[in-house]
Amino acid sequence: MQQQASAPAGAVFPLNPTREYPTLVRGAGIHVYDQDGKEYIDAIAGIAVALVGHGEQRVAETIGRQAGTLTYCISNIFSNRPAEDLARRLGALTPDTLQHFLFTSGGSEATEVAIKLARQYYLARGQERHVVIGRWQSYHGATLGALSATGHRGRRAKFEPLLLDFPHIEPNYCYRCPFGKTYPDCALECATALETAIQEAGPERVAAFIAEPIVGAAAGATVPPPEYFPIIREICDRYDVLFIADEVITGFGRTGQTFGMEHWSVTPDLMTMAKGISGGYAPLGAVAVSDRVWSVFAEQQVTFDHIFTYAANPLSATVGSAVLDILVADDLVQRSAARGEYLFAQAERWRKHAIVGDIRGRGLLLGVELVADRATKEPFPPEVGASARLAAHCFERGLVIYPGSGCVDGVQGDHFLLCPPLVVTEPQLDRIVELLDQALAATARELAAA
Ligand SMILES: Cc1ncc(COP(=O)(O)O)c(C=O)c1O
Repeated sequence: MQQQASAPAGAVFPLNPTREYPTLVRGAGIHVYDQDGKEYIDAIAGIAVALVGHGEQRVAETIGRQAGTLTYCISNIFSNRPAEDLARRLGALTPDTLQHFLFTSGGSEATEVAIKLARQYYLARGQERHVVIGRWQSYHGATLGALSATGHRGRRAKFEPLLLDFPHIEPNYCYRCPFGKTYPDCALECATALETAIQEAGPERVAAFIAEPIVGAAAGATVPPPEYFPIIREICDRYDVLFIADEVITGFGRTGQTFGMEHWSVTPDLMTMAKGISGGYAPLGAVAVSDRVWSVFAEQQVTFDHIFTYAANPLSATVGSAVLDILVADDLVQRSAARGEYLFAQAERWRKHAIVGDIRGRGLLLGVELVADRATKEPFPPEVGASARLAAHCFERGLVIYPGSGCVDGVQGDHFLLCPPLVVTEPQLDRIVELLDQALAATARELAAA
């Protein structure tokens, strides 16, 4: 047999065979360490996951206790205390009307559950609705249902033939308004576009609209204007369409509020969550279900025809409770708001680099869009790989950031995200800002030479 390049027998399948992946062996606070002892500042908390930092002993001890007690039970035969406790803790954080929780192992699964719940909710009401409307430049997960709702052309491209035919509306993106307008003289067409999309799809077919409160990876922390989500809520209500808020990145204090939707004082019908809910100490996600949806299942005694083997497993649920206890005890939501303000103030110094087009976000979710020409906002050609180059310069300096592409149209556009653990300190933020300052300068030089 012909010998293939790299990967020896029994190796972990590398996502990108051309890349070397340093092997991490340990984490502590905002730092992770590889097997050669190199220290990295994890300025993205894994990927918006390690809310309470790495190596948190309070969580580790809880895992040990639960592992020796009960680690697994199947959720269509048994309930378990840790899952019930976690649901109670979550209920103390979510709005009064979102008090019923289904558990998953992550964010994509949570999106799938939300889509299937919406479908069954309308079936129980005798309606054939099944269409979910999403937005361009969004991300809701990698599984096929979630990817169908996702609006990132680059991430969808190879899988298009497998995807469901869900419509997408233009995103809120004030830096490059898709309607060529300028807020506040714009009549919020990005929001009212939802009504047009519902009418085009046929109101009797539309089950839900899904949106991230602040778009994470797909667009680099784009924040809608104050009127945006109230208009979305009103349109959903008028057409009896469920509003799903994807809080997978924005949940649990990331943006300086417990949940991102609190910035707009709007309550969704279904709320998906994952990532920070377990701080990365176990795979965990959830869907918060409103009374409106729950009551139809309860009154009509409808079974939700769906199960994941690891849903509501006691070990992950215990971890969720331990992380939420720390979130509350250490006042991390408030800290995220305060440290976020500090980070945004310090980040202003990056504007001296001509490649910095826009700095946006809330709390400890900060996005920067890179541009070839600040005056015209012309993006770099995708083949230049501007954000990947920046990430490489950061990595050399021991700083991990999250580079992204496609914020303009799913293919063009470069940005990066910062979303450090909420336990980050001001001196640590200073260091992150300083290293990025150096990396931006190095990238600008390299791009100019290229
Ligand atoms: C907003 C959003 N929703 C859903 C997901 C999917 O979550 P997971 O990767 O845990 O399946 C992600 C992942 O990055 C996300 O950012």
